[in-house]
Amino acid sequence: MDSAHVENDLVNVLFTEAQIQERLGELAARIEDDYAGKDLLIVGILRGAVMVMADMARSFSRHLEMDWMAVSSYGSGTKSSGVVRILKDLDTDISGRHVIIVDEIIDTGLTLSWLTSNLTSRNPASVEICTLLRKPEALQMPVDVKYVGWDIPNEFVVGYGLDYKEQYRNLRDIGTLAPHVYS
Ligand code: PRP
Repeated sequence: MDSAHVENDLVNVLFTEAQIQERLGELAARIEDDYAGKDLLIVGILRGAVMVMADMARSFSRHLEMDWMAVSSYGSGTKSSGVVRILKDLDTDISGRHVIIVDEIIDTGLTLSWLTSNLTSRNPASVEICTLLRKPEALQMPVDVKYVGWDIPNEFVVGYGLDYKEQYRNLRDIGTLAPHVYS
């Protein structure tokens, strides 16, 4: 789906498909340099990270392994509870492995902060984070992120894996959702 198909729902297009692909290529090149000679496992966080994983992984010119986790907030039912439970765990034993967690957005930081601690407790050789987007103004928990596509304002963004009520994930671009859609 292109932005033109949902243009009335968007305030603007933040990043086009071409810009996203270019940035992912740059991130992959940096990661390749940083992990030269080391084995690498990238872990995508379902469901939003599917597009980033698929496109970034194909930008690499080296072997890597891919695995997936699904997590969900619970407790109060809001993300701000900071409590996360694992809906789908890794199939891979990451002990002694170099791991990069890949996500499409860091908002409050609660999910990635929890995930980093969780994976670190499994004795990997290293754990780093790669996110396409980050909202510095929304951060509630410090998260050490090694690879960031772009920092963005604290606005409701959709597309390229990011949803509103499970829609817009298949939008090629990333755009700011118009308030009339969610208010
Ligand atoms: C998004 C994103 C991160 C998390 C970040 O997932 O993929 O995992 O939110 O938010 P935080 O920094 O406030 O913790 P979401 O819960 O929307 O699920 P989804 O990937 O299935 O859309």
